[in-house]
Amino acid sequence: MDFTLTEEHRMIQQAARDFAQTELLPGVIERDEKQEFPASQIRKMGELGFLGMMVDPAYGGSGMDTLSYVLVMEELSKVDASASVVVSVNNSLVCWGLDVFGTPEQKDKYLRKLATGEILGAFCLSEPEAGSDATSQKTTAIDMGDHYVLNGTKNWITNGSSADVYLVMAQTYPEKGHKGINALIVEKGMEGFEIGPKEQKMGIRGSDTHSLMFNDVKVPKQNRIGEDGFGFKFAMKTLAGGRIGIAAQALGIAAGAYEMSLKYSKERKAFGTEIANHQAIAFKLADMHTQVQAARYMVYKSAVDKDQGNDYDLSGAMAKLYASQVAMDTAVEAVQIHGGNGYVKEYHVERLMRDAKITQIYEGTSEIQKIVISRSILQD
Ligand code: CAA
Repeated sequence: MDFTLTEEHRMIQQAARDFAQTELLPGVIERDEKQEFPASQIRKMGELGFLGMMVDPAYGGSGMDTLSYVLVMEELSKVDASASVVVSVNNSLVCWGLDVFGTPEQKDKYLRKLATGEILGAFCLSEPEAGSDATSQKTTAIDMGDHYVLNGTKNWITNGSSADVYLVMAQTYPEKGHKGINALIVEKGMEGFEIGPKEQKMGIRGSDTHSLMFNDVKVPKQNRIGEDGFGFKFAMKTLAGGRIGIAAQALGIAAGAYEMSLKYSKERKAFGTEIANHQAIAFKLADMHTQVQAARYMVYKSAVDKDQGNDYDLSGAMAKLYASQVAMDTAVEAVQIHGGNGYVKEYHVERLMRDAKITQIYEGTSEIQKIVISRSILQD
């Protein structure tokens, strides 16, 4: 497969690289420390078209391909994974799903504003007792004719308080299992919808993660996405694309850790020479470079599969599994190469190490990716 980037791809990649350096890097350490949401940076990314990258321009999107999206995710994530997860959720889990499965009315009302970043979206599948086991939804959406009544709790929701629009999966027909689940568009401010306190997280501390509580929330029928009972398929199809975005985030964290280590190794001296001249460090750099490049090929391949209309469940799951492992390993090695400096905040790599871990957990743990991969290869 040819991964030569077109002129347009290079331009969008450069734009994201410049944005990360000028807008995300200043203040990234403080935002991480204070758990501060990058609100002004997100607004600017909306103006650049980064929040609705694959959305049809007729609905305010940038109309770009998935490869452009992963290039942007990679560059942003080298510097600030808290900002890039907001971009990922809004693009992959909210805009894409509405663009593909939403009604014209839903797109007019919600997608337009989401794609331009005027408002943000959240994807609400996980529950206190339904994380990996996503079919076990306890949240209920009782059909009342012209509306649903929503009751339940969602956990670990990215953009939990900063979003205005929430795509909520809930069980309407428990006897039908996953075939009884619906996906509903819920607006912030609907009566009975409460946002819990912000989670205190190890990493991606700038992004806001919350529990959400729904107490007899009336959701109009026209806010259901797809046919009655389509909610679980909607979630799975959306997550399959979301995994490509998180794989690109993991790739960016790994590439950032590697690039910082390479620079540091050429500057830092020990035993009379730059540490890069010691084979112990040079071999670490060789391994990191090799793994980052392998992850990059896998992530780009899954994006190209999606763009070419091929199945991307398998390549996306493999890309996420591998890239998130590389993110973790590379960030740990980056801290080691930086020595004592790696353990303090100003050198950034300790943050990358904390941020890397979540890429092995959200949008499906590594174990979930192995379920998807093994089922795929065993059925062939
Ligand atoms: N596309 C379309 N349909 C799919 C699908 C896909 N990729 N994957 C599964 N399905 C369908 C199946 O075909 C099946 O439908 P039928 O019965 O009609 O054939 C149905 O969904 C149920 O599938 P399974 O029997 O395979 O279901 P399962 O209970 O064995 O679980 C699973 C499958 C892959 C483990 C799934 O539960 C899963 O992905 N779990 C992880 C959930 C997850 O990623 N959570 C992350 C939360 S979101 C998040 O983190 C967002 C954030 O804020 C950052």
